[in-house]
Amino acid sequence: MTASKPDLYRDLARQLAALLAGETDRIANAANMAALIYHGLPDLNWAGFYFRQGAELVLGPFQGKPACVRIAIGRGVCGTAAARAATVLVPDVLDFPGHIACDAASRSELVVPLIEADGVFGVLDLDSPLLARFDEADREGCERLVALFVEHQRQIPDA
Ligand code: SME
Repeated sequence: MTASKPDLYRDLARQLAALLAGETDRIANAANMAALIYHGLPDLNWAGFYFRQGAELVLGPFQGKPACVRIAIGRGVCGTAAARAATVLVPDVLDFPGHIACDAASRSELVVPLIEADGVFGVLDLDSPLLARFDEADREGCERLVALFVEHQRQIPDA
């Protein structure tokens, strides 16, 4: 990677703001955000969303191989991040009890919850085939991207 991670995330945040500008549809915005991240960050094999429906997370827009469609809140890395309403960074998925292996190639994972006034309404999930692909700079950068998305959708009535 030539750019530093903070520079890379700053650039992605600018691009995301431009993609979201003027568009209200949550699925379209999530789809473009997943594509931006998947192609903008190196060494990912999956990037996408799950949105909450009751006690489950249901697969949303993503890039990568087909994935598990429904994950109970509290299960796997995604369900754990949703239950805790906090980011979960897993350097080695084999060390995370209950990790759900959608793609056997995934070795590390970062999940950031989408939080609004009513609570968690989804998660952004990033997977990598590399061990310990994600660090604190990735956590900060992805939380910033998610904050942009959440704030954008919050301002849109009935979207
Ligand atoms: N590994 C995730 C499941 C989702 S896939 O990685 C796309 C988990 O444990 O929640």
